[in-house]
Amino acid sequence: MVTTESSLAKNPLLEGMRLEKRASPFAMVILGAHGDLTKRKLIPALYALYLEDLLPKDFAILGSSRTKMTDDEFRGVMKDSVQKFASDLNFQEDSWGEFAKSLHYLAADVMKPEGFTMLSDRLQELKQEHSTQGNHIFYLSTAPSLYTPIVKGLASSGLATKAKPNQVPWPRIIVEKPFGHDLQSAIALDEEIHDVFSEHQVYRIDHYLGKETVQNIMVLRFANGIFEPLWNQKHVDHVQITNAETLGVEGRGSYYEEAGNLRDMVQNHLLQLVSLVGMEPPISLDPEATRDEKAKVLKCLRPIDPSEVDQYAVRGQYGAGHILGQTVPGYREEEGVSDQSNVETFTALKLYIDNWRWAGVPFYIRSGKRLAKSITEIAIHFKSAPHRLFSDSLDSVLDSRPEPNVLVIQVQPEEGISLKFATKQPGQTNQLRHLNMDFKYGTAFGVRSATAYERLIHDCLMGDPSLFSRTDQVEVCWKFIRPVLDAWSDKSRKTNFPNYAAGSWGPLASDDLIASTGHKWRRL
Ligand code: BG6
Repeated sequence: MVTTESSLAKNPLLEGMRLEKRASPFAMVILGAHGDLTKRKLIPALYALYLEDLLPKDFAILGSSRTKMTDDEFRGVMKDSVQKFASDLNFQEDSWGEFAKSLHYLAADVMKPEGFTMLSDRLQELKQEHSTQGNHIFYLSTAPSLYTPIVKGLASSGLATKAKPNQVPWPRIIVEKPFGHDLQSAIALDEEIHDVFSEHQVYRIDHYLGKETVQNIMVLRFANGIFEPLWNQKHVDHVQITNAETLGVEGRGSYYEEAGNLRDMVQNHLLQLVSLVGMEPPISLDPEATRDEKAKVLKCLRPIDPSEVDQYAVRGQYGAGHILGQTVPGYREEEGVSDQSNVETFTALKLYIDNWRWAGVPFYIRSGKRLAKSITEIAIHFKSAPHRLFSDSLDSVLDSRPEPNVLVIQVQPEEGISLKFATKQPGQTNQLRHLNMDFKYGTAFGVRSATAYERLIHDCLMGDPSLFSRTDQVEVCWKFIRPVLDAWSDKSRKTNFPNYAAGSWGPLASDDLIASTGHKWRRL
């Protein structure tokens, strides 16, 4: 029987506010539970939610994959993983023991109808055992090629049906990235999913949106009066977004050969960051109001003309090199990678948002593996002061010229915000120094930040899709990068790969890209 959950906030003044509320009982099925994500992120996040008392009393987690394992074996593997990958959690045998009672495992082949019959039967048993009330979340953490068969299997076994908002019991689906391989496949996947689920049941995960500092972008912009008046083409000279990793492909060579950096990082994580920096203020905190604004700004991205791809995009691939004192192999030497591979491990893009707010302001984004340092940041470079009162002639040292102000939102590793500004050095001359006003999450709050997966899984349990990508956002991002994808998959275009050494800041062409419009990458 279909009933409705009581509304979160009947008072219109409270509408859209996140109120503390415990999630309803549920069973979460993790499909692809034998994979790395389950061990490194999902189970640690669920255990952290349990420790924070953010899970309901009644819940079950059912890991599933083809590998044969008993419940106890699965619990053992997950216990080791939590201790290894979530060392910041207050792991205790007692709390783990209690949590693990809700952990189960089912060996099933989702390519066969019997796999779904077994899943359905097991969920029935868990409903009795853990009083899950029939609320189900299906977490797709398998190879993307299995997404469509799984969705079809869920439909034909009756495990998934289109539901009305607030209907109980509810089936929901969380889809890991990549959502499609290009625009066409993303649309096709979306159609398959929408045959079975309504949009409000679909949670397309982009873990960058769950990161604490990423959520803080909206707060910084829209809860303070001083930034927004400056946040436009009148005052902003350009924006730089950097995502640098020292890690290589970490055993995911065969996935990466299919994906490459543009699909793996830029289409989703980095363009989501662009949308948060570029969006207009939403009219409320209602999930759709925010997602509308994000989609709107992404639709303003200036299309890249296929004949001009090289003026807007640079690709790179790392060769062998040194990182933090260690010699590391080149991409082509990684396991699962072809020794002739032309797949990019680095991308730099110049893009423009063609709207009233951002007309003419270049946004530069770069992302790469095996770079000199692990860091992700957004840097808003403001225009220089209109008049050079402290002129160059007065100053003997180069550093004493007034430099533009830069507001940096550091996403990781150390989450924080800093503002660079000029100040006078003490003494008899007008010598300037550039200093930073720094805010660091860790020292300011002194509490552990929840991981992105904790926040996002909890939001899904609460039925809040605000921090998940909506179908129109995903499609517009694929559409934007399509000319670059097409050009880079054209085998007649030569690459000079490997074109950067592991441990460097990427190919020189990326410096030329930004220099062509008069700018320079920040030294990080
Ligand atoms: C994943 C990519 O989505 O994000 C990985 O598939 C990448 O290749 C990872 O390493 C980076 O995430 P984070 O949170 O470590 O910046």
